[in-house]
Amino acid sequence: MQLIEQVVELSAALQVERAAGRRVGLVPTMGALHAGHQSLIERAASECDLVAVTVFVNPLQFDEIGDLAAYPRTLAADVAMADAAGASVVFAPPVAEMYPGHPAPPATTVHVAGLTDRLEGSSRPGHFDGVATVVTKLLAMAGPCRAYFGEKDFQQLGVVRQLVRDLCLPVEVVGCATVREPDGLALSSRNSRLSPDERRAATVLHRALQAGAASVDAGERRAGQVRAAMASELGREPLVTVDYAEVVDPRSLEPVDEIVGEVRLLLAAAVGPVRLIDNLAAVRPAAGDVPAGRADDDTVADAERIGV
Ligand code: PAJ
Repeated sequence: MQLIEQVVELSAALQVERAAGRRVGLVPTMGALHAGHQSLIERAASECDLVAVTVFVNPLQFDEIGDLAAYPRTLAADVAMADAAGASVVFAPPVAEMYPGHPAPPATTVHVAGLTDRLEGSSRPGHFDGVATVVTKLLAMAGPCRAYFGEKDFQQLGVVRQLVRDLCLPVEVVGCATVREPDGLALSSRNSRLSPDERRAATVLHRALQAGAASVDAGERRAGQVRAAMASELGREPLVTVDYAEVVDPRSLEPVDEIVGEVRLLLAAAVGPVRLIDNLAAVRPAAGDVPAGRADDDTVADAERIGV
């Protein structure tokens, strides 16, 4: 395992690998690695010849200073986990290496318009500019590679795909499934900040997504009904305050009114003092495949709409 702190060293190490005909996999993280990160590293190791994990708590993407200060820093354990999962390089630069003028903001930043206007973008102003800027820099430093990102941060994955396309970066972005605890809670470094009661309450996020997905799978076409199903499930938990519970197009992340085919259910909620996000895919079956009960309801609704 090579632990690298300097940008030039990372670029050179990965360039040597590519020159020898080896495929480079990159897994950007902010450290405090858990089984979710581990799954990304293992996937990268199974698909690439060499995996580099980046560990950098990016100050640009924190909208609250307290959140940045509270972020866990566990480099020794991260290096051990990255090694065990199949990585051979950990890049852990000091802040001054990534942002030489810090704390003055960098002169050049990356803004992905449109996709970042909604959801996490409206709840956390500036967050995605910070993410887009650091990811662009990390990809530029790494050079041609496959880069692995989790669906856990579904909007972030969309932002990364968009900036790679728009800036013609020589990178193949790979989205990886969310890893969950046995009770459904998505793994997150923030989970360790939940009290036992909050930890128990936090399972409602996944239950709400499942309730929404179940109604879509059963043929519900009205996104409003699906949002209501999620909100009602979340409403059962007094420790949880909902930020948003949305039904969106999986590519544009625009809210949908009528569900046709695949949608993504996204939600954000505060559990006590800790803000958590989660999401799930849902697919409305084609007309002929809708289960009998739902098809009947829809037929009535359709009949009412067209006045028969
Ligand atoms: P971080 O929160 O450390 O996450 C690093 C990567 O791990 C992201 O791609 C994230 O989606 C993925 N991940 C986190 N929890 C996961 C889970 N339960 N299952 C699967 N994947 C999971 O996301 C960031 O860091 C930063 O914004 C970063 C992209 C590194 C830029 O600073």
